[in-house]
Amino acid sequence: MEQVKYGEDYKRDFHPEEYLQMYYGTLKGAPSEGDMLQTSMTFWHEAFAQGHVRGRRLLDIGTGPTIHSVISASNYCDNIYLSDFTPQNRETLLKWLDGSLEHSFKTFLQFVVDEEGKGELPNDREAVMKDKVVGIFPLDLLQTDPLMPALFPPFDIITSSLCLEAAAQDLASYEIIAGRIGRLLKDGGHVVLFGVLGESFYRVGSHSFYCLKISAEQVQDIWKRSGFTIVEWKQKATSVEFDTSLSDFEGVFLMVARKSC
Ligand SMILES: C[S@@+](CC[C@H](N)C(=O)[O-])C[C@H]1O[C@@H](n2cnc3c(N)ncnc32)[C@H](O)[C@@H]1O
Repeated sequence: MEQVKYGEDYKRDFHPEEYLQMYYGTLKGAPSEGDMLQTSMTFWHEAFAQGHVRGRRLLDIGTGPTIHSVISASNYCDNIYLSDFTPQNRETLLKWLDGSLEHSFKTFLQFVVDEEGKGELPNDREAVMKDKVVGIFPLDLLQTDPLMPALFPPFDIITSSLCLEAAAQDLASYEIIAGRIGRLLKDGGHVVLFGVLGESFYRVGSHSFYCLKISAEQVQDIWKRSGFTIVEWKQKATSVEFDTSLSDFEGVFLMVARKSC
């Protein structure tokens, strides 16, 4: 049986085109994922639309090859720093930035501008987002200083989608990562996190990738112990249609947490 991939395996076995095609083709996502993608976009929109989470500089952790997680956020910050562990994901983001990526995020952009209801066009929103992107940076959450060799002053907002569960091998490591993320953030700054609950793996092409099986209570306890106040928590159970050969998640959540001063 094929070994589940983790850590350095990403550099060889994670193929951005396959990932985008399997999970981010259109807003309906993979049929096996049910309405997870729609839920994710709604959660991201609602988290920012309230207007409490805003700031000058935003870091997105483990952006992967997709920008869907920062579309809503992009209206509430001036500068966006994208990051990922896997070089081919960073190359994919660079292609998006220079306009040479074949994959289109139009249905995601359209969803956000429709939700915002200000008549903005998806192409215009994408151009505004690109203008705000400062760079695409290597990041390894398993290192004490995840963004090294780059050094930045603390950020106002940190967002992340489906990354911490992929990077942390166990709960102790997840807690260390939460502490590291806390140190990258200003006092009073916000973390906005989208994640999966109870998932042990996800498939990309012919490979299975490791995921830390974690519960809502465990996520909340860890962030509270790491010096955060949870200001918003939403979760949704997996819908019935989902195909357990692609992943075994039991639900998804979005958390907004403020770093204590
Ligand atoms: C499931 S993908 C999520 C990508 C994207 N944010 C999304 O929402 O679809 C998991 C991501 O975690 C990243 N990753 C894996 N190990 C990591 C590590 N040690 N530090 C930071 N990111 C890591 C991978 O490169 C990949 O982009």
